[in-house]
Amino acid sequence: MPTLFDPYSLKDVTLRNRITVAPMCQYMAQDGLPNDWHHVHYAGLARGGSGLVVVEATGVSPEGRITPNCLGLWNDEQAAAFAPIVESIRKAGAVPGIQLAHAGRKASANVPWEGDDHLPESDPRSWQPIGPSAIPFGANLPRTPTEMTLEDIARVKTDFVKAAERARDAGFQWLMLHFAHGYLAQSFFSPDANKRSDQYGGSVENRGRFLVETLAAVREVWPENLPLTIRFGVIEFNGHDEENLRDSVSLLKKLKDSGLDFLDVSIGFCTPEAKIPWGPAFIAPYAHQIKQETGLPVSTSWYISEGRQADALIRTGTLDTVSLGRPLLADPHWPYTAARAVHKKQPADVLPPPYGWWLNRYQ
Ligand SMILES: Cc1cc2nc3c(=O)[nH]c(=O)nc-3n(C[C@H](O)[C@H](O)[C@H](O)COP(=O)(O)O)c2cc1C
Repeated sequence: MPTLFDPYSLKDVTLRNRITVAPMCQYMAQDGLPNDWHHVHYAGLARGGSGLVVVEATGVSPEGRITPNCLGLWNDEQAAAFAPIVESIRKAGAVPGIQLAHAGRKASANVPWEGDDHLPESDPRSWQPIGPSAIPFGANLPRTPTEMTLEDIARVKTDFVKAAERARDAGFQWLMLHFAHGYLAQSFFSPDANKRSDQYGGSVENRGRFLVETLAAVREVWPENLPLTIRFGVIEFNGHDEENLRDSVSLLKKLKDSGLDFLDVSIGFCTPEAKIPWGPAFIAPYAHQIKQETGLPVSTSWYISEGRQADALIRTGTLDTVSLGRPLLADPHWPYTAARAVHKKQPADVLPPPYGWWLNRYQ
């Protein structure tokens, strides 16, 4: 079995190790445009030694952003602004990835540190969210979305395709569609959020249709030699765990047949009533189960924070890569910290020579 620091190859892409940067919204954009903040942030993470840097949830349309300060990829100006960031990630030795997203009924929210709730309708920055049905998430996100028409569904699928083309042209090499966390795609799959009576609601097959069609349409434009991946919540922790997992496996097999290459296993977040058993690497066993039942390579995040723990998840074959969020905010050079924890020879070799040479020589 490989170790945390062995390369990982998928299609024509090779990650220098199994450490990946989980997508993390920065809420620092205006009009969806990446700026200096994003450039420094993502280049810094790439220099920190991770194998893959996945840029945060990036709206495929203005209405698809979570907040007014989220990134977007619905116009050429945004694509042009991403290109130098992509280049910096690549030059630092990491593979540049991006997560494309539509926030659905959770859209039009405040940034977390200003409330993490829906913007009031009276706020000029707010907009009307859309969803599979006119059912609000609830709790801090109480706005009732407008039920999408079939034209809306077709339009959003096209938005994903156009954004994927722009991501491709900007030089991204790893595409992750955000099908998780209660945003639009995940909410289509949720029987609590989706009460449609047409071909996009009802049975597992119908609730999965938006996801399968979107992925298949993106596959048409995303190069066959580059990984097309998703993040998907396989479980809601809503009291129906077995059903959730069974339905998820059935959907994922269809997605795999439609061109899905890799899965980041996450949580559904479609109900505020979920009872989530937070704990160290608590999603990893579910990820492994899904890997075995679907044959898809998998990653997951959630409380994987120690080098030896991450290494063990790779060595045991539980995961193909680990995905880290907060540990990399705390320490962008976490790969070096982990290399020391697992007693890797010359641990600072995971960093670029202007950092690593000194650390190997003098520590
Ligand atoms: C600041 C922040 C922003 C996040 N934004 C996203 C996002 O854009 N897309 C996503 O799928 N998950 C997002 N997440 C979830 C992370 O990707 C990750 O799954 C989560 O933080 C758990 O991993 P950790 O325990 O390593 O932090 C975010 C998390 C944080 C802390």
